[in-house]
Amino acid sequence: MAMVCLTDFEKYAEEHLSKTTWDYYSAGADECCTRDDNLLAYKRIRLRPRVLRDVSVSDTRTTVQGTEISFPVGISPTALHCLAWHEGETATARAAEALNTCYITSTLSTCSVEEIVAAAPNGYRWFQIYVYQDRKLTEKIVRRVEALGYKALVLTADMPYVGRRHNNIRNQFKLPPHLQFKNFNGLLQQETAGHKKYHTSDPSVTWKEVHWLQSITSLPIIIKGILTKEDAELAVEHGVQGIIVSNHGGRQLDGTLATIDALSEIVGVIKARIEVYLDGGIRTGSDVLKALALGAKCVFIGRPILWGLAYKGEEGVREVLQILKDEFRLAMTLSGCINVAEINRNLIQFSKL
Ligand code: FNR
Ligand code: LAC
Repeated sequence: MAMVCLTDFEKYAEEHLSKTTWDYYSAGADECCTRDDNLLAYKRIRLRPRVLRDVSVSDTRTTVQGTEISFPVGISPTALHCLAWHEGETATARAAEALNTCYITSTLSTCSVEEIVAAAPNGYRWFQIYVYQDRKLTEKIVRRVEALGYKALVLTADMPYVGRRHNNIRNQFKLPPHLQFKNFNGLLQQETAGHKKYHTSDPSVTWKEVHWLQSITSLPIIIKGILTKEDAELAVEHGVQGIIVSNHGGRQLDGTLATIDALSEIVGVIKARIEVYLDGGIRTGSDVLKALALGAKCVFIGRPILWGLAYKGEEGVREVLQILKDEFRLAMTLSGCINVAEINRNLIQFSKL
């Protein structure tokens, strides 16, 4: 089967994963309006390409938090990679390293952070964290990832509680017995009680805990799950280094704006004081181009990585990233830009259709 675009990997994953795994990966909350709109929103946006601009040489590189990556697409944190492929997150890490992009490791990985770093020692990585009721446990995790060379903490802010994903409830989805949340091994007193308690953040968390995190680490802090200009402004006021405009792939509050539709007002108030990233619904190179034109410094992809893993592990994830990179270069040059610095708001026409 020739894999030509990201939806080819989606079809493969749907056909080959077990039903419960497919349902977990594809799930959205409630009626899935936001999950689906994340993709549809890109189709309402049209491009205004410029021509006759010598695009014979082009460069897709950019930087995030001062570090160069080969193109403006990184990997969003997603849990449970071993459900898709036996090597799990170690395969993802090797693919990210090979493509020289940023891999945000989920707290809920099925390989430990030590295994992930050992598999791809030169990879550029951020760690997605929750603040748990047990602050000591949270601090221990921070110390571990600092020592392992993770370059930023991504605090997921949109999950004080888990959204209702209907099929997962019907399937009574839970971690299969042969897999573990390995980052917690040895840290929890009582495995069974612990699992429930530690998997999502403390719902009482506020900006106060952001300050607490800042007080215990010098790593940059990036807040994931911002959808409004009000919270974007607060993020700047509270001194964080970046935000990810995200609705958790439509898995949390159904009925929010698609992330690409939320981006403009946020970029408008941030005024380049900190970097603004986006995830949700990126499936093609022109989606990436549109997000950058509207002010995102870089975008991240969640589910397509899981589809790549399901297809062929590391090789599948490499293919997903390579296709997106090639598509992005093509969209960029066809619109008359030879590098990411030339991409701007003038490329965008909101469709009246
Ligand atoms: C996620 N997401 C997520 N986010 C996070 O901060 N920590 C996590 O552990 C997870 N786990 C997770 C599992 C699965 C199966 C999915 C699909 C998503 C959300 C993720 O980081 C990201 O916001 C979305 O996946 C982006 O949307 P797309 O690219 O999947 O459309
Ligand atoms: C999810 C959690 C793990 O969306 O973030 O499934």
